[in-house]
Amino acid sequence: MNTVSPLSQELGLSIPEEDVEIRGMRATRVVAKPPKRLIGNKDILLYVENINVSFDGFKALSDLNLYVNRGELRCIIGPNGAGKTTMMDVITGKTRPDKGVAWFDRDVNLLESDEVRIAQAGIGRKF
Ligand SMILES: Nc1ncnc2c1ncn2[C@@H]1O[C@H](COP(=O)(O)OP(=O)(O)OP(=O)(O)O)[C@@H](O)[C@H]1O
Ligand SMILES: [Mg+2]
Repeated sequence: MNTVSPLSQELGLSIPEEDVEIRGMRATRVVAKPPKRLIGNKDILLYVENINVSFDGFKALSDLNLYVNRGELRCIIGPNGAGKTTMMDVITGKTRPDKGVAWFDRDVNLLESDEVRIAQAGIGRKF
């Protein structure tokens, strides 16, 4: 359930939060909102922006942006090690980026969804 915490109310903020349970303890966390550009554009199906992934300090993805519209077909090409698989891993929830945002179908926050939820939302991959 999304609520605004008493502290946020006291501070005059309207940051949506939700109650979660982490290892048996109740906690409150801020719910991320889709970026304004996504809210304002119904054509965008996949919104990936400013993604950074590093492995032990090695930058595999630096400020990656990818926007795919409904009905659009995109092919990603690049040399070995360019980061294509890492990008797919981020989109499908296998790898969490250090930075960036990724949304699908307007309101599925890919960076806060597990692999099952992402698959249920309609993103699949095949090898
Ligand atoms: N788990 C990992 N640990 C450390 N480095 C990694 C890991 N996964 C990928 N990398 C490195 O990140 C970079 C991007 O790799 P990635 O596999 O995403 O490239 P790719 O474009 O899919 O390459 P290919 O065409 O060979 O499939 C490479 O330099 C790779 O060695
Ligand atoms: Mg690959």
